[in-house]
Amino acid sequence: MPAINYNEKIPNNVNLSDDRTLQRALEQWQPNFLKWWDGMGPEKSSNFDVYLRTAVSAEPQGWAHFDYVKMPDYRWGIFLSPPEQERKIHFGEQRGQDAWQDVPGEHRSNLRRIIVTQGDTEPASVEQQKHLGLTAPSLYDLRNLFQVNVEEGRHLWAMVHLLHRYFGRDGRDEAEALLERNSGDANNPRILGAFNEKTPDWLAFFMFTYFTDRDGKFQLSALAESAFDPLARTTKFMLTEEAHHMFVGESGVSRVVQRTCEVMNELKTDDPAKVRAGGAIDLDMIQRYLNFHYSVTIDLFGADQSSNAATFYSSGLKGRYEEGKRTDDHVLKEQSYKVLEVVDGQLQEKEVPMLNALNEVLRDDFIKDSVAGVGRWNKVIEKAGIPSRLIVPHKAFNRKIGALAGVRISPQGKPVSATEWAANEKNWLPTAEDRAFVASLMGRVAEAGKFAGWIAPPRVGVDRKPVDFEYVRFG
Ligand SMILES: [Fe+2]
Ligand SMILES: [Fe+2]
Repeated sequence: MPAINYNEKIPNNVNLSDDRTLQRALEQWQPNFLKWWDGMGPEKSSNFDVYLRTAVSAEPQGWAHFDYVKMPDYRWGIFLSPPEQERKIHFGEQRGQDAWQDVPGEHRSNLRRIIVTQGDTEPASVEQQKHLGLTAPSLYDLRNLFQVNVEEGRHLWAMVHLLHRYFGRDGRDEAEALLERNSGDANNPRILGAFNEKTPDWLAFFMFTYFTDRDGKFQLSALAESAFDPLARTTKFMLTEEAHHMFVGESGVSRVVQRTCEVMNELKTDDPAKVRAGGAIDLDMIQRYLNFHYSVTIDLFGADQSSNAATFYSSGLKGRYEEGKRTDDHVLKEQSYKVLEVVDGQLQEKEVPMLNALNEVLRDDFIKDSVAGVGRWNKVIEKAGIPSRLIVPHKAFNRKIGALAGVRISPQGKPVSATEWAANEKNWLPTAEDRAFVASLMGRVAEAGKFAGWIAPPRVGVDRKPVDFEYVRFG
């Protein structure tokens, strides 16, 4: 495994200079990427010195180096996890055979589609978050936003490398198209719905990084099992970066909740209007944001029954989350799984072949993982002596994809009429007023160690630096 080579135009640990054609192709894509970053990346920040981490090794221990960097100078590169000697395919119909070092012809179009769909989400989230730097609640948070942004940029590089290296002309065209689609663009939108939604404020950003980056974790984990070894190694290293994004989300929401509870206790009130007048975000509104981001994100896993999901698994392209830790036969031909359907207005479980339900399996794994963090937010509320709790809405709530699309189910999982839905929607999902209130709290706090009034400071800083460290120096 070569160490990461930083002497080349494109840092890499894949001996890029041994393949001149590939190197040249990627060096031609590089200025297009930088142009995209300049136009669609973080706004008005290109001359800031940001205390960022950069990968210096793909080994799990000690891979990161921290220093001040201007974002356009960030060393985006190609980093794959170390190869596993004689790695075998460990699920699907070719279980036990050697993993593929190249793309088998019969799986070419499916693999390309999987890589393009994953790749498309990476620049999309940068686009969704481009305005947020202008209203960061502290230098610490500003730095975390930028860290997430540069790493999503690197994840784009990761997918583009696979497209260029393994998919010839089609791959190069797809790599260009990844820079041409834009989040929310009516004519040329990003591929998946959640990545065309706005991330208008920092509460939305923290919810996004908690829930939607966690979708990333589960998709990447499933791809890290792939029989196509370069994809498995690529996504494995992306997962080490992804962990920080979810930390930003979980700790961000936790600090918002903490501050809300402090204000509730100071003012001795649970009246949302008084909490807002006190400059904090009431728990009901936090719940509505949570409901929105959760429901939009679980749609990303796709239809609950999908023949594509079955094909991807059986042919070894995409495994399950933690495939290696499961004790079944890893072929799944005989197994079944329960999905929800609506019969006469009521939710019912129905047994279907598991292979067809693998999107639902991954969605349920995601749900388990999400619930744990919401429990930790509730601990903050409990510790403050406040009786209310946040809930994870029912998985049938507000769905747009699959058998539950368009079915009216309350966050508690109760089927409701069109009239009930209309009467309650403002209690369940963020309203224009909610968004306007949160927007009214947003404003850049640029002094080291200072935090906006709606969010508590973190307990520790980044890279063992103090919380009041100057994480961003404005140019
Ligand atoms: Fe990513
Ligand atoms: Fe991410």
